[in-house]
Amino acid sequence: MMDLIIKNGTIITATDTYQGDIAVKDGKIALIGQDLSDVEAKEVIDASGKYVLPGALDAHTHLEMPFGGTTSADSYEAGTRAAACGGVTTVFDFVIQRKGQGLIEAVEARRKLCEPQACVDYAFHTAITDLRPEILEELADSVEYGVPSFKVFTVYKKEGMMVEDGVFTKLLQKSKEVGALIGVHAENPDQIDQRTEEFLAEGKTSAWYHYMSRPEFVEAEAVKRAIHWAKSFDAPLYIVHLACKDGLDEVTRARDEGYEIYAETCPHYLHFTSDVYKREDGRNFVCSPPIKGKESQDALWEGIKRGDIATIATDHCPFQSHEKDWGKDDFTKIPNGCMGVENLYPYMLDAANRGRITFNKAVELCSTNVAKIFGCAPQKGTIAPGSDADIVIYDPNKKFVISKDNMHSDIDHTIWEGVELTGYPVMTFSRGKLVFKDGEFLGTPGHGQFVKRKGRK
Ligand code: URP
Ligand code: ZN
Ligand code: ZN
Repeated sequence: MMDLIIKNGTIITATDTYQGDIAVKDGKIALIGQDLSDVEAKEVIDASGKYVLPGALDAHTHLEMPFGGTTSADSYEAGTRAAACGGVTTVFDFVIQRKGQGLIEAVEARRKLCEPQACVDYAFHTAITDLRPEILEELADSVEYGVPSFKVFTVYKKEGMMVEDGVFTKLLQKSKEVGALIGVHAENPDQIDQRTEEFLAEGKTSAWYHYMSRPEFVEAEAVKRAIHWAKSFDAPLYIVHLACKDGLDEVTRARDEGYEIYAETCPHYLHFTSDVYKREDGRNFVCSPPIKGKESQDALWEGIKRGDIATIATDHCPFQSHEKDWGKDDFTKIPNGCMGVENLYPYMLDAANRGRITFNKAVELCSTNVAKIFGCAPQKGTIAPGSDADIVIYDPNKKFVISKDNMHSDIDHTIWEGVELTGYPVMTFSRGKLVFKDGEFLGTPGHGQFVKRKGRK
């Protein structure tokens, strides 16, 4: 006896589109067939006219993260609730190693916080801020533990998160030995500091100067240098939240030369341009790297089509309006980060609905590639027998206008306000459990489980 059968839907994976029925048992996909009418199940859902997709994996979130003089405003519960309602069935949250902390110690502290709250499954990347010799040795233990991906920041010096080239290059070299993947937030910190100082001295304090203090070339230089180091050590590299054309061109060049370089971009870089920083509410869009000009936006879409952008993730790191308001008269006081975990899959599927990319491509970018790159395929990221029953039923005809009132996180505004989508998830299953239906969250905190991932060896 199966727990659930989803019948008559159009199943879409990264590679295939076909009519079929899916049977679920004990949280896993047990069977897929053209007609499972003869199979008994406790519950049958008719998905006629709907698309049946693997749940998305958001490779980049910052939930209840101390940052920017406060803590990002979505708790693990609120963030994973919003995730479920946007068809995201696994979030990858960033653990920030504090000075003196061990890697596994840092992960376990966050895991303890997350576990009772998580409404969908979760994995962690660790941002390394304090690379002592014993930490370099602990890398292998972390891979074994199930956290085989790490990140470095080339910025955020005053937050104690920035690392020097020596740390980055040591990690790249070690990553090959232990089967880890290093990610990088790449912007040039000295340029940012210098330009910021000049703007403030000139009384240029609006949100526009957040963008002007870290424009295209400031990001591009750091991306190019990061790729240079990865190539020098022939180590794989994952560039998080890539937002600029010249950086992407370097990714393309390196990939054409055969290097294992992965680029992630975010929906806000694909939808908005730097003009948002001229708006009255420009501070709400302040994130780093900032949203760039139209030339970069167009290049990112081209990079998606070429296959040089591997994943789309959200960098979900929201702050409440009153916190964003700290920077009304001084852009340096605006906590950096925007929301998006609930918008990722609907936005990219809308792009597919409009014919900008295929549905298979949307699934590849938001789900399959993330699982493959970060070591949890085929448990996650596809619809196949044996995979977790993380399934989204998507109505391609449903009209949806994004508003803070129909979002499910704890944030009092959304940068996506008023954006119109054609097509929207109508059901999300997390390991076979219905966690979202027709606009309503049906999940439970504590349901989400830690995803123990494999290293690259
Ligand atoms: O502005 C951002 N992106 N905030 C979150 C931290 C980071 O840099 O990813
Ligand atoms: Zn970042
Ligand atoms: Zn981030």
